[in-house]
Amino acid sequence: MFAVYAESFSSDDPLSGLVLGERPEPEVPDGWTTITVKAASLNHHDLFSLRGVGLKQEQLPMILGTDAAGIDEDGNEVVVHGVISSPGWEGDETFDPKRSLLSERHQGSMAERVAVPRRNVVPKPASLSFAEAACLPTAWLTAYRMLFSRGALRPGETVLVQGAGGGVATAAIVLARAAGLRVLVTSRDEAKRARALEIGAHEAFESGARLPEKADAVIETVGRATWSHSVRSLRPGGRIITSGTTSGPDLDDAELTRVFFLQLSVIGSTMGTRDELAALVTMLDSTGVRPLVDRELPMAEARDGFALMAEGDVFGKIVFTL
Ligand SMILES: NC(=O)c1ccc[n+]([C@@H]2O[C@H](COP(=O)([O-])OP(=O)(O)OC[C@H]3O[C@@H](n4cnc5c(N)ncnc54)[C@H](OP(=O)(O)O)[C@@H]3O)[C@@H](O)[C@H]2O)c1
Repeated sequence: MFAVYAESFSSDDPLSGLVLGERPEPEVPDGWTTITVKAASLNHHDLFSLRGVGLKQEQLPMILGTDAAGIDEDGNEVVVHGVISSPGWEGDETFDPKRSLLSERHQGSMAERVAVPRRNVVPKPASLSFAEAACLPTAWLTAYRMLFSRGALRPGETVLVQGAGGGVATAAIVLARAAGLRVLVTSRDEAKRARALEIGAHEAFESGARLPEKADAVIETVGRATWSHSVRSLRPGGRIITSGTTSGPDLDDAELTRVFFLQLSVIGSTMGTRDELAALVTMLDSTGVRPLVDRELPMAEARDGFALMAEGDVFGKIVFTL
C-alpha cells in the first residue's frame, strides 16, 4: 500500500529520511481493526520522528502520522484516537506509563490503511469532513484537555494563549472562544496576531507585553521563551497548563517565588483520552466550530507539507488526503 514513512533519521535535515512509497499491509492483532484512511494531518511529532526523537534505528522504516479519519471495516466514518494504551489498561489512557502514540511503536496513519485497537475508533459525524476530523486527535485533543480537563476552565474566565500561530495554540483559541472564555493571545508576529483575532481571540499582544488584565489560566506550549511572562500574567491562585516547549525546556528563571507567593498551579497535560476525543467531536458537531486547516494536500504531495512545517510558515493544520 502507499505510505509516507521514515527510512532514516537526520537532526539537521529531517526531510532527507522521508520516503513516499510502498509498505506492507498493516498487521492486525486480536482486538484491533483496520481503518481505510481518507485523511491524516501533520504534526510536529512527525518532524521529531524524522529527527530521531522517540524512535530507534531498529524500528525503521516507520510509517508516520499520529491521527487520521477514515472508514472502518463496517463502512462507518470514524476518527482515530492515536494514543495506544497497553492491553487491558483501564481508565485514562494518558496515565498509562506504557502508552504510545501511533507511529512510535505501531505503524502510523499516513498510509492507505492503518491498524488500531477497536476501542481507539470514535464515530465521525457527517457534519465534519474527513480533513477536518483528521485534525482533531493530536493538536485539538491536546488543547481540549488543557482547557477543559486539566485546566478546568469555565465560561467567563480569562485565558492567555501563548504563541498564537501554533497548532495547539490555534485550537485553544477557537475552543476557548466557543466555550465562553475571554481569550488573550501573544505572538511575535503581527500577521499571526491579526489571524488570532479573526479566529476568536478578544485581544492580541506582542510576546512578552504587559497585559492590561491578569489571566485565570495560561495555555503554554512555547516553554523557555514565554514561561516568565506566563507566570507574571496570572492572578493570584491562577494556573499554567503546559504541554510543550517549542522554544526549549530549560528555563532562565522558573519564577518560583511568584509561584508560591501567588499560590499558582503548574499543571502538565499530554494528549487526551478516547472519551475526551469523543466529547471534542460532539462539541464541534454541536457548535459548528471547525479546525483551522492551513492547507489540504493529496498524500502523494506530503513532502511539500513537511517542508512547510519545517520552515514554520503555517497557521493551523496541514492535512493529507487520499
Ligand atoms: N504534550 C502533548 O500531548 C503535545 C501535543 C501536541 C503538541 N505538543 C507540543 O506542543 C508544542 C507546540 O506544538 P504546536 O505544533 O502546537 O506548535 P508550533 O507550531 O511548534 O508552535 C508553537 C508556537 O510557539 C511560538 N514560538 C516558537 N518559538 C518561539 C520563541 N522563541 N519565542 C516565542 N514564541 C515562540 C510560535 O508562536 P508565534 O510565532 O506566534 O510567536 C509558535 O506558533 C510542541 O513542543 C509540541 O511538541 C505536545
